[in-house]
Parts: sequence; structure tokens; C-alpha cells
Amino acid sequence: MRITEEQQKILDGKEGKILQKAMSDLVKCGTAMGAEEFIPIASAHTTLSAMEAVAYAFLPRGVPITKDSIDKFSKEIANVRVKVKTTTNPGWMDLRKWRQMGAGEDVYNSVMRAVEVARRCGIMATHSCIPQLTDNIPLFGQHVSFCESSAFPYVNSFIGARTNREAYGVSLYSALLGITPNFGLHLDENRRGTHLVEVQCEMENFSDWGALGFWSGNKVGVGIAVFKNLRRPTVEEAEQLCAGVNSSGAGGVGMFHIPGVTPEAPTIEAAFGGNKPKETYIFDESAKRETYRYLNYKPEGKVDLVFIGCPHATLYQITQLAQMLEGKHVAKDTKLWIMTSSSFRAPAEQLGYAQIIEDSGAELLADGCLSLYYIGTNCKRPNMNRVATDSAKMAFIPRRSFNSNIFFGDTERCIDIAIKGGL
Ligand code: F3S
Repeated sequence: MRITEEQQKILDGKEGKILQKAMSDLVKCGTAMGAEEFIPIASAHTTLSAMEAVAYAFLPRGVPITKDSIDKFSKEIANVRVKVKTTTNPGWMDLRKWRQMGAGEDVYNSVMRAVEVARRCGIMATHSCIPQLTDNIPLFGQHVSFCESSAFPYVNSFIGARTNREAYGVSLYSALLGITPNFGLHLDENRRGTHLVEVQCEMENFSDWGALGFWSGNKVGVGIAVFKNLRRPTVEEAEQLCAGVNSSGAGGVGMFHIPGVTPEAPTIEAAFGGNKPKETYIFDESAKRETYRYLNYKPEGKVDLVFIGCPHATLYQITQLAQMLEGKHVAKDTKLWIMTSSSFRAPAEQLGYAQIIEDSGAELLADGCLSLYYIGTNCKRPNMNRVATDSAKMAFIPRRSFNSNIFFGDTERCIDIAIKGGL
């Protein structure tokens, strides 16, 4: 890779060990991916779940992650400032209701230490998996460095900004340096459609979008799908599509096109940009039914946990959920958890929606993620033997990780299940 004099100085360690490590790993990444140079980025979205995870990205191989090594590392990194606007992915748990989620003090303290380091580095610890709708909204054509599998397809496909599917270490290095290697989806030629997906059924429910994403992610893998005959989604439906495409198959889908919606693709021809589709797939009623059948995994009569908010619920979703729950009560042996980020919980509290939700016995949680949290820690889980959710991504994760019985379906049906306590 060609690097500038200034970048070489950082690589030589003239600006400290942290930036040297960041630059060295970005050069390795860029070289491996065939990048010829770095480009400046406008913003970054990274992960700082807990201090152990941050230390893991920086400490040399073989250095054990102990309390002492983390303490030393925390002091070093806290002296460095990010070069661009940077936000963070969900941090395992609700920073206010962490005890309700089963977290111990040790995990809470580790997360808070990462929050403190983030503050000193100038990182906004927003703990949101929908930064592109809240605190980190890129503009068309901007280059950014985003992790989070539901966020980066949105950035590319609905906003027309450019990001690769970043690992959290790479996005953190890019945040600290303000640059990213120029390869993959930063380049025009890699943003063209590769496969045609013809939609031949109605998209009736919120959950249908997750089902379509899940199905097409499985078929197209890391290619770039061009959806034909797909109606314009709402922002929340678009989120479900993005989360779904990366829940199955290769799990690295960075982009797709919906002609007439994706900014770079006014037409199907423009979406392919001269490419011929490698394959055509048809998503019809039977494919949709089959996807629901697959994502509903031995659903049982009783349900222990109804989970809404993967990706995090927007304020509009919270408003709708409050309307569905007003005057009703969640069944005694069932939990209803609605996950959002603080950027949305604060106005939901101010406007009274949070109270309506909590009066029904449901929990409005913020800043966490059911899957990251219970997979990444030894925290006490709620009973998740039987789960209901409106998210294809969340339907797949507990089934794979905890062998839970899963009901996957529309939001209204999930709320009904929470009130009745079962199917
Ligand atoms: Fe967000 Fe976690 Fe779902 S990061 S997209 S709530 S799996």
C-alpha cells in the first residue's frame, strides 16, 4: 500500500504505541484486501462492549488479558482521541436495569470502564445498533467505517454512503486514525448487483422483511442482490431486511439494491451497472412460507420471553407498542422485553410511552443486546426456553445458541402472545 509520510510516522511509532498498532493492523488489512491507499472517513461505528474486548484488539498476541494488563492498557488508550465522530454498538446490557437483566457487578464494572475510556477518547458510547438512524447518520457518498451487521447494509443500500463490513477492531482503528483502506464497497465497481431476486408475493407484515432478508442472505451469500418488484419499505422494515440478510448464509452481506430506493440504483439496469445476473431467485408465497416454517423452531404453547427490538426499536415502534399495550397486562409467567437505545428511551420516557409500556408489565430496556450479552458473558439468563420474536435475526440466534423453541411472527401477534402467555 502507498502510505503518506504522516502515516509512515505513525507506523514508526512516533505518535505512540496505540496509534502504531492501529496503523499497523490497518496496513495489514488493506494489503490483504488489495487496497492501494487509505481514504479519509467521515465517521465510524465500533464496539466497546467491555474493556476486555477493547484490550483484546490492541494487546499483542500472547499478552494475557489480566486485570493489570487491562488497567495499564486503559490508561494508555485514554490518552488518545478519535479523529472522527464515533459511536458504539450495544454494550451487552441496560446500564440502568443491568441487575434485572441478570448481570453481576464485575460485568457491569467492566462495561462502565469501557464507557469511561470511550468518554476520554471522544467516542460517544451510544450503545445502539441503529446509529445510522440516530447519532451517526452519514450522507450520500461519504466513506465511513461501520461495524454491526444490520447497520452497514443500511448505510450502503438506503443512504448510499460507503462502508465495508468492518470488524470492531478495524472500525476502532479507523476511528482513531480517521482513515480506512480503500477496497471493497468503497469502490464503484464492487457496488454493482450480482444476483437478481424477484419478489412475487405481498410484503404484508413487519416480520416478512426479516424473512425476505434471511432467505435472500442464504441464497445470495456475499453477492449483491438486486430486488425486483419490491415495494418501498418503511425505515423500520428496511432495518429488518438489513438484519435478516446477515443472519443466514455467509453473514457478510454489505449491500443490496432496491431499484428506485437505493440512491445509486434508479433502475434495475443501473443497479447491475453492466453486470449480468449470475443467478435469478424467486421469493414467492411458497418461499416465504418455507422461511417462516424454518424460523419457527418447535414453537410450544407457553412462551417464557417475548423479545422485540432487534435491531433496536425506534421511537415510532415504541409509540406503536405503547398503543398495543395500553390498558393490557403481560401474562404472569411471561416476560416482554422491548430493547431500544437511550437516544430513543429518553424521549419515550418524556412523552409517556415508557410509562404505558411499564404499566403493562413489559420492560423497556436500552443499550443492550440479548444475543451479544448472553452469549458473550456468564450472566444469568432469563428463562429463554421458549421465545417469541418479530425479528428473523433474533429468531435465529437463540435457536442456534441456546436451542430455544422459537415463535417468529408479526409484532402484533408477539404482543398478543405476551398478554396471553403463549400461542
Ligand atoms: Fe442489535 Fe443485537 Fe439484534 S446488536 S441487531 S439487538 S442481535
